[in-house]
Amino acid sequence: MRVPQNKKQRTADRIERIDKKYIWHPFTQMRDWEEEPQLIIERGAGSILTDTHGKKYIDGVSSLWVTVHGHRKKEIDQAVAKQLKKIAHSTLLGLSNVPAILLAEKLMAIAPTGLAKVFYSDSGSTSVEIALKIAFQYWQQKGPSFRRKTGFLSLREAYHGDTIGSVSVGGIDLFHRVYRPLLFATRKIEAPFCYQCGLGKTRSSCGLACAKDAERVIRKHSRTTAALIIEPLVQGAAGMIVHPKGYLKKLRELCTRYGILMIADEVATGFGRTGTMFACEQERVVPDIMAVAKGITGGYLPLAATLTTGEVYQGFLGEYREFRTFFHGHTYTGNPLACAAAIANIDLFRKERTLARLQPKIAFLAEGLKRFRKLAHAGDVRQKGFMVGIELVKDKRTGEPYPPEEKVGIRVTKAARERGLIIRPLGNVIVLMPPLSISRKELGTLLDIVYGSIRTVTESC
Ligand SMILES: Cc1ncc(COP(=O)(O)O)c(C=O)c1O
Repeated sequence: MRVPQNKKQRTADRIERIDKKYIWHPFTQMRDWEEEPQLIIERGAGSILTDTHGKKYIDGVSSLWVTVHGHRKKEIDQAVAKQLKKIAHSTLLGLSNVPAILLAEKLMAIAPTGLAKVFYSDSGSTSVEIALKIAFQYWQQKGPSFRRKTGFLSLREAYHGDTIGSVSVGGIDLFHRVYRPLLFATRKIEAPFCYQCGLGKTRSSCGLACAKDAERVIRKHSRTTAALIIEPLVQGAAGMIVHPKGYLKKLRELCTRYGILMIADEVATGFGRTGTMFACEQERVVPDIMAVAKGITGGYLPLAATLTTGEVYQGFLGEYREFRTFFHGHTYTGNPLACAAAIANIDLFRKERTLARLQPKIAFLAEGLKRFRKLAHAGDVRQKGFMVGIELVKDKRTGEPYPPEEKVGIRVTKAARERGLIIRPLGNVIVLMPPLSISRKELGTLLDIVYGSIRTVTESC
């Protein structure tokens, strides 16, 4: 127990007690939470977070993959404050509002060409849920011969959110197993995971066998499949699985050839994370439906959007009495404050040349990660842009994982905290997702801390 020393300390301790008394934290074993001292964030600026005791940390995971231009970014602060003076919320059901309209125009300007409509919601999960429902209803309304197209294809180890639909297309056994009786059945495609290839191949000689395997599944089920959903280029929550080059493009071709809609879940990869505004751009892919969230407001407010092509949208038009309407909507859909933040966030990309300035930092990160590959317990080091996963294993030669009870990922995270860095692992994969605005100096410090923390923990195992 910490000993109260002064007023700040007493306040911090009281806040922590209240947290432990009332809050049930997401993805958290609450028994551990209640027993251990916890870190409570009070403020932030740029890439730095400050806790209730006044201690500073680098935000190594962009406050769960959302912060883009840093915390307390003047332009976004001002945009939200300005909007507050007009109105905080008004509904999009039967009405519209100015920021939601202007944001839709901005999204269309940066989204892959071919996407034409924006349906708002408030989290990554809802944006995916909406994408699934749109895809399903689209085929139901297309005509009697398409009514059997009710199923979904998704990747093993996929993560698309925590609502029942998005869990149904998920593939992370640990998170999803318990809900299986509640879920609708989906067909799975092997994840293109080169480190531990499910097909037993090696990248240098595989000839993209995973894409051929995907074709087999798609061909077999095309007549009963509404859509294939994929996290483009990187499966984030699976532990930053970086897909081999050409895989996404191949799947796009297959979806077109076999008459299946392609849903790109850009919730994690969107807004610059992989080095381009959207991951799909890197393989010149235009999905039929695209889900975005997380970075859309630069990490300020909950907002998401599901973008569709004109063709998908047209499928919902008709006489009122035909009820081809998309019967879906959330109370805070298109919230003006969130949309104002998102507009300012997108404007900053151009004003600050964010993507151009990111490229040398991506290269610096790649260079800095080289020494990690030599660590005795670093099984695989994966990077795509500003998404990094360092997979720690018990035996580097065989790839044998650490047993869960050793909590290696959690221990590395704790060691990093003591050194002034906040990261959050995915099992034994150490995830690095700093804000795009992080300075080179901060990035260097981040890498040093992670390197030292991994060594401290793995050398004592
Ligand atoms: C690819 C992907 N899709 C969907 C989600 C769910 O987003 P949210 O947590 O905002 O519901 C996430 C969250 O990490 C994600 O990474």
